Amino acid sequence: MDKLLIRGGRPLHGDIAISGAKNAALPELCAALLTAEPVVLHNVPRLQDVATMLKLIRNMGVTAERDDNGMVSINAGGLHTPEAPYELVKTMRASVLALGPLLARFGRARVSLPGGCAIGSRPVDQHIKGLQAMGAEIVVEHGYMIATLPAGRTRLKGARITTDMVTVTGTENFLMAATLAEGETILENAAQEPEIADLAEMLIAMGARIEGHGTSRIRIQGVDALHGCTHAVVADRIEAGTFLCAVAATGGDVLLRHARAEHLDAVVEKLQEAGVKIAPVEGGMRVMSAGAAKLKAQGFRTTEYPGFPTDMQAQFMALNCVAHGTAAVTETIFENRFMHVNELVRLGARIQVDGRVAIIEGLDGTARLSGAAVMATDLRASASLVIAGLVAEGETVVERIYHLDRGYDRMEAKLRALGADIERIE
Ligand code: UD1
Repeated sequence: MDKLLIRGGRPLHGDIAISGAKNAALPELCAALLTAEPVVLHNVPRLQDVATMLKLIRNMGVTAERDDNGMVSINAGGLHTPEAPYELVKTMRASVLALGPLLARFGRARVSLPGGCAIGSRPVDQHIKGLQAMGAEIVVEHGYMIATLPAGRTRLKGARITTDMVTVTGTENFLMAATLAEGETILENAAQEPEIADLAEMLIAMGARIEGHGTSRIRIQGVDALHGCTHAVVADRIEAGTFLCAVAATGGDVLLRHARAEHLDAVVEKLQEAGVKIAPVEGGMRVMSAGAAKLKAQGFRTTEYPGFPTDMQAQFMALNCVAHGTAAVTETIFENRFMHVNELVRLGARIQVDGRVAIIEGLDGTARLSGAAVMATDLRASASLVIAGLVAEGETVVERIYHLDRGYDRMEAKLRALGADIERIE
C-alpha cells in the first residue's frame, strides 16, 4: 500500500492549477445517464472516486472514454442494466447519485445502500423520501433500494420536496430526477453548494428547465427528453482551500490557478483573520503567509454552504495546531469527523475533544510538531495529516493514502512543484 514520506519545514512557492471539483464531477457523470445522446465533460479530475464512478456506469452498459487532458466522453444510449452493485457503492457513497437519473429515464433502478461510513452513519432516508414524493415506489430488500414506478406510469411526477436537513447529494438526486418528471418540482431547503449550481448549468445545457439553483429554493419544470451537451467541471474549492491552509501553515507565496475565491468566502475570511494574505487575481487566487508561527488560531463551526465547509475542518485544524492561541472547532454536519485528532496528537498537537467540539491549543511558535508515522482515516483527514507533516520537524509517514487518492488529483506532485519535500513510497 502506498504511503507518503514528508520531510517538513519547507515554505511553498510557485503556482499550481486547481483541478475540477470531485463533488461536481461525480453527479455530472451521473447526469449523463439522463440522455441517450453523447455527453462530453472537460476538466474532470484524475481521482479514484471518478474512476469508481466510471466503472459503475460502464457496468450499466454505458460507454465512457477519458483522455489524458481531463476530457470524458459518455454515451448512455446503450444502458441496459440500471443497477449500482454493492461492490462499487461500498467504496463510494456518491454512487447513490445514480438513483435519481436511472429512475427518471428508465422508471426503475436497483442501487445498493451505501452502508457505514467512517465519518458517520450517513443515511439515505431523505433521498428515498423525496423520490417517493415524486411517485416512485421504493423498497429496501437485501441491502438494495429497489425503485420502480406504479403500474401504468412511465414518468416520475413533479412534487414539492422539503428535506429534514440540507443534503447535498439528496438535492442533486432530486434535481436530476425532476428534469424528466411530469410537471413542476420545487425543492425547498435545497443545498446551495457551487457544485449544485454547476450541475444545474450542465442540465440546462442538456435542455432542462431549472431556476433558483445556488439558492435554497430550486424550481424545475420537467421536459420530455434531454439531449447531449459539453460541459466543463467547476474548479474544486476544497482542493483550493486545502492548498490555502498548506501555504498558510508552511509560509510562502503561491498562485492557485483556476481557484474561485467567491466559492471560498468562509475559509478565506478565517484565514485572513488568522493573518494570511489572500487576494483574488486574474484567473485564480494568490496566497501569502509568513508561516504558522505568525498566525492566530481561529475558531469556527462547520455549516452548510455558504458557511464553513465540513470538508475543510480537518485541514484548518492542522493549521490551528501550529498557530498562536487557542481555538474551538465545532463540527455540526457529521457526528464522527474528528478521527484526524488522534493522529495530529501523535505529531505533538494539543487537542481536546468533547462531543462535537475540539479545543486546539496552538504551539505558539515555541515548538514544532514532530514527524511520526500516522494513518489516514478518511479523505479530508488525510489532507490534514499532509499539512501537519509539511510543518513538522523531521520525517512524517502518512499511511493508507488511498483515502487521499480518492479525492485529490496528484496532490504530492502539486506540493513537490511548490518546493515541498514529499514522495510516494511503497
Ligand atoms: C456531500 C459531499 C461531502 C460533504 C457533504 C457535506 C459529495 C459527493 N459529497 O456529501 O463531501 O462532506 O456533502 O457538505 O458531494 N443525511 C441524512 N439522510 C439523508 C441524507 C443526509 O440524515 O438521506 C445527513 C447526513 O448524515 C449528514 C447531513 O445530512 O449528517 C448532510 O449530509 P449530505 O449533505 O447529504 O452529505 P453528502 O451529500 O453525502
